[in-house]
Amino acid sequence: MRLLVTGASGLLGLNLSLLEVKKHDIVGFDRSKLAGTPFRIYRNDLLAHQAVDHILDEIRPDAVIHTAANANVDSCEFDPQGAHRLNAELPGELAWACAQRSIRLVHISTDAVFDGTKDGVYSETDTPNPLGIYAQTKLDGERNVLSVNPNAIVARVNFFGWSLQGNRSLAEFFFNKLSKAEQCSGFTDVYFCPLFVGDLAETLVLMLEKNLVGLYHVTGSKALSKFDFGQCIADKFGFDPSLVIPISVEESGLIARRSHNLRLSIHKLSTDLGQEIPDVSTGILKFYAQAQQGYPQKMRSYQQV
Ligand SMILES: NC(=O)c1ccc[n+]([C@@H]2O[C@H](COP(=O)([O-])OP(=O)(O)OC[C@H]3O[C@@H](n4cnc5c(N)ncnc54)[C@H](OP(=O)(O)O)[C@@H]3O)[C@@H](O)[C@H]2O)c1
Repeated sequence: MRLLVTGASGLLGLNLSLLEVKKHDIVGFDRSKLAGTPFRIYRNDLLAHQAVDHILDEIRPDAVIHTAANANVDSCEFDPQGAHRLNAELPGELAWACAQRSIRLVHISTDAVFDGTKDGVYSETDTPNPLGIYAQTKLDGERNVLSVNPNAIVARVNFFGWSLQGNRSLAEFFFNKLSKAEQCSGFTDVYFCPLFVGDLAETLVLMLEKNLVGLYHVTGSKALSKFDFGQCIADKFGFDPSLVIPISVEESGLIARRSHNLRLSIHKLSTDLGQEIPDVSTGILKFYAQAQQGYPQKMRSYQQV
């Protein structure tokens, strides 16, 4: 399969491209950050005039995995128009362009579309209620995609792993602080279901191979608090777990409002795939194993200098 991956320098896009290049013909869409990758790079800005049409006609992929976004929740609050353009309008345009050419599309969305007030896990039929600009623009993006391309996959995700810059994921945040014996905060009142980025990448490709369509929750199978996640990282790497300071997200000073409950049901996904989705414990083992194998350094070597 020829896969076009947007956001190829991002946390999901780069991990997915590096993993799947062993099995598929990967073309990574990158603005300017990557060099020397084992997959082809197509360089442009997705918002440039006719960039989407040009790349689809030139590369002619079987499927697009659209990870590019403004994924910085707080920066979206300062630039609502830019966030709307990138996170909401562009996905709709890409979905339309893919539909016109019979190219499959996986559009990446977020668990943050819910307000967290539900007592329990959220399923795909629950009504979203975004708390901030990022979440609202991502929800608008989902709707724009499915309204013009009902055969697209929209995947609401939450994941962790090693990134190009070494500071993109929550797991890296804890690793970076704890490895320097620095204190860091962990929210005791935010529950989520993180999935290791390698497991997410494999699941997304499997969803394409199995011809799934529509909205899916694609997260890990186990919920825990962000504080507990920090403790798990400390335990696995042998760092001092007391350096993770338990606090409430409400006293964090973060700009955008955050949901306290990001627990998503993956029942629909595991049923339709006919297999279990990995949980955070096995994901942290893989995250640790990658560190032992020099994967974070390898990843950083793909930075354009
Ligand atoms: N991280 C999470 O846990 C999480 C949770 C829920 C949902 N998500 C969603 O998952 C997806 C991937 O997130 P991520 O953490 O991998 O994001 P990320 O690391 O911030 O990467 C975002 C990517 O988008 C690219 N991009 C931004 N604007 C672009 C433009 N105009 N043209 C071309 N490329 C552009 C960036 O390129 P540059 O490097 O050039 O800026 C970067 O490669 C996003 O849709 C996000 O909303 C993430």
